[in-house]
Amino acid sequence: MNNILFLVLMIFKFSDDVQGEKILAIIPSPFYSHQATFRPLWRELSRRGHEITLITTDLMEENENITQIDYSKTYEILEKHQFKEFFVKGYSVSDIFVKVFEIMDDLMDYQLTHPDLVRLIKNRKKFDLLMVEMLMPHFPILSVTFDCPFIGLTTMDALPHVHEMIGNAMHPAIYPFADFGFQQPMSFWERLMSTTYISVTYLMKTLIFQSLLSKYLEKYIAKDLPDLDEVQKNASLLFYNANPLFFPVRPINPISVNLGGGLHLTDPQDLPKDIQTYLDEAKDGCIYFSFGSTVNSNYLSQETLEIFRKTFQELAPLKVLWKFENDTMPNKPENVHLRKWLPQQDILRHPNVKAFITQGGLQSMEEAIDSAVPMLGMPFYGDQINNVKKMVDKGFGLKLEVKTMDSNSLKNSILELLNNPKYKKNIDRLSAISKDQPMRPLEKAVWWIEYVLRHKTTEHLRSPSADIPLYQYFFLDILAFS
Ligand SMILES: *[C@@H]1O[C@H](CO)[C@@H](O)[C@H](O)[C@H]1NC(C)=O
Ligand SMILES: *[C@@H]1O[C@H](CO)[C@@H](O)[C@H](O)[C@H]1NC(C)=O
Ligand SMILES: *[C@@H]1O[C@H](CO)[C@@H](O)[C@H](O)[C@H]1NC(C)=O
Repeated sequence: MNNILFLVLMIFKFSDDVQGEKILAIIPSPFYSHQATFRPLWRELSRRGHEITLITTDLMEENENITQIDYSKTYEILEKHQFKEFFVKGYSVSDIFVKVFEIMDDLMDYQLTHPDLVRLIKNRKKFDLLMVEMLMPHFPILSVTFDCPFIGLTTMDALPHVHEMIGNAMHPAIYPFADFGFQQPMSFWERLMSTTYISVTYLMKTLIFQSLLSKYLEKYIAKDLPDLDEVQKNASLLFYNANPLFFPVRPINPISVNLGGGLHLTDPQDLPKDIQTYLDEAKDGCIYFSFGSTVNSNYLSQETLEIFRKTFQELAPLKVLWKFENDTMPNKPENVHLRKWLPQQDILRHPNVKAFITQGGLQSMEEAIDSAVPMLGMPFYGDQINNVKKMVDKGFGLKLEVKTMDSNSLKNSILELLNNPKYKKNIDRLSAISKDQPMRPLEKAVWWIEYVLRHKTTEHLRSPSADIPLYQYFFLDILAFS
């Protein structure tokens, strides 16, 4: 009797299990942090025996269950068009248009005709699921090509039109474009600006951008493809990463899964021996300094580098561990250690690391919050400005502008962070809150992925708000009538 029960249970278990499913994952945007965010997910899916084909601009380590398609040339294309300089140095609207069209031409020509992608399509490779970054709206079309459900992914909060497609709240008076950094209560002019911005980008996306992308898709992928909006609306799930510390909390429907940041956080690993020794010996504390992967010292003038050098020297015996593009530097102070690459998460976990000088990238900040290290933010562009503003508002960090700082202000900021206990106290509290969750973001993501693999659809969870037109959602017709 027991044996039969056992058998029945086994059958149930196996019929529920999803194993060896084939997943096509596409992260086409050439930012190391976008790639790194999702790597723990690919590793975990691989560990669970799924077979992954990963299209990526930054190859990860080899793995028997992950076939990687190398899109690294995307970096060369952006470099050719001086994309980063363009971002860092600021831009005008007309510049953007010209630039975007030029870049798109080269980018689509490269990414959509990549021989490995063409081979997948031609051989009609079978996939059970597509997982695709939702920054540009064209890659979800491959869910039609491969006839499989898809999950949209974003490394931070999703763009307003992505929330809108899924049927999430996206009211511009409550959820302004994050980079504006508007705080509630928003003034009339802020609400006007937010609404105008979201409307204009919405129109540009619908009228210009999508029709342009459709042309590339028709040229390179297939004729007679469905409308891009319709395809995107078909997303089975949206994974987005909006840590409530950085983004306003949003009512969402069940097919939106907020991983809340922290997906990329790994379990502690051993530090390289020499770094471990260096930090162990830093009895007077150590500052960890990294501007991440996008800002390198090309953006720092000789004078700025000199300010860092001089100030760090004055702060001895405090030590500084600096992620710098060269392992050496002329006149490097004794108490400064340079490295081209450093295992950031594990360094931040070391108890002697007392402060972190950062450009304010989201992933870096999440790592520092996880390890409860106060920060000195020096933002350059994009979301960094707003992230650093949050760091100051919530009292776990200070801000300095690289352009205006001098040796005095740098030194004073560092000493304030180290000597005033309020920063450490605040970040300890936020760290505890952000870790206190029913399940880890990685477990949550895997559970939902396998849910889609089991049921092939999430139609039953879909909100009617995804399907009503915007004028009805904002009851413009009702207002006009009354
Ligand atoms: C690959 O999948 C198999 C199961 O099919 C599993 O036993 C193995 O551990 C996986 N490999 C990795 C590197 O995760
Ligand atoms: C949306 O998904 C359904 C069910 O998987 C499919 O039949 C339909 O063709 C898809 N539509 C588009 C535009 O992708
Ligand atoms: C880094 O090293 C290279 C040569 O090794 C040198 O050309 C470059 O100027 C150095 N950069 C900085 C910022 O010191």
